[in-house]
Amino acid sequence: MVAPGKNRPVRVETIVVPDPGPGEAVVKVQACGVCHTDLHYKQGGINDDFPFLLGHEAAGVVESVGEGVTEVAPGDFVVLNWRAVCGQCRACRRGHPQYCFATHNAKQKMTLTDGTELAPALGIGAFAEKTLVAAGQCTKVDPAVSPAVAGLLGCGVMAGIGAAINTGGVTRGDSVAVIGCGGVGDAAIAGSRLAGAGRIIAVDIDDRKLATALRMGATHTVNSRSTDPVEAIRELTGGFGADVVIEAVGRPETYEQAFYARDLAGTVVLVGVPTPDMRIDLPLLDVFGRGGALKSSWYGDCLPSRDFPMLIDLHLQGRLDLDSFVTETIGLDDIEAAFDRMHGGDVLRSVVVL
Ligand code: APR
Ligand code: ZN
Ligand code: ZN
Repeated sequence: MVAPGKNRPVRVETIVVPDPGPGEAVVKVQACGVCHTDLHYKQGGINDDFPFLLGHEAAGVVESVGEGVTEVAPGDFVVLNWRAVCGQCRACRRGHPQYCFATHNAKQKMTLTDGTELAPALGIGAFAEKTLVAAGQCTKVDPAVSPAVAGLLGCGVMAGIGAAINTGGVTRGDSVAVIGCGGVGDAAIAGSRLAGAGRIIAVDIDDRKLATALRMGATHTVNSRSTDPVEAIRELTGGFGADVVIEAVGRPETYEQAFYARDLAGTVVLVGVPTPDMRIDLPLLDVFGRGGALKSSWYGDCLPSRDFPMLIDLHLQGRLDLDSFVTETIGLDDIEAAFDRMHGGDVLRSVVVL
């Protein structure tokens, strides 16, 4: 499924996938979720390297590997990630590979049949029967899980779960507030439940989203259109504020709510992605007067090799409901319509099954 140009409809094309070179793998895609980022690529909101091969929340089976590949072998069931870390840079060596300076993708290009090079979305491009990636983008997981569920970990759901368990460090008994209950916020709620949080307060402006949040594990809900969320969170936490507040919208006003809704020693995690024009304006004295930590979470600070197999195991054991994130499974031809449904409020994830 190719996005040919800015804001033009996506269309199915025949593409040429080269045999994997050194360090590369070709993966037969089985499922790939539709993410807001695909829509942003299509709209030209990321860069203008059209044509894009869209799709990046994917799982499938390794078909072939290039020279020197040891991470995976043909036949392995894998989840793809968009951050293959180098293992060598300062961040990697200091044990912070989530800040790796040298993440990489496949070196060769996939093309249209006329030779036009394709830019794969987030270095993946998985709305396709096959795709070429760096071997380090493949993480082997238990093949007992359905591909539609496994692929979710490739992006938004991992971002949300990781915002809670990796960045926020949510631990048993913590009070957690999650502002914005789309796919990412709901995953943060599921992650908080997994980590043993005591109260999990869901905040959104849409009652339908709050109803879903309750199913994902929220213990309390606040509609911030009608109720001041900072006051409500304080009230629900004995007057103190939440131990961890996760902002999953990516807007200045919700960040400000998160800032004031935390306990004095609490942590704010920004996982919603702001746009370049956004600014916050906080009294410096209020920053000084509050301890805790202000953090951001990029891809849930995940380590795919550690987190993907673990979360799939927990899912298979019935301890982490990932099925509820899959609202519908669709075919490649349905992607354009799925983009429209994305803003309807009822869809967490549409997943293309191939
Ligand atoms: N206050 C509270 N909730 C809000 C507000 C607001 N002012 N504005 C929007 N929301 C809610 C929406 O009602 C919706 O439930 O935030 C949620 C956003 O969900 P989605 O649009 O489904 O987005 P999602 O995929 O969850 O991603 C959230 O994380 O990865 C980033 O780019 C992504 O910035 C986005 C954020
Ligand atoms: Zn590195
Ligand atoms: Zn995504």
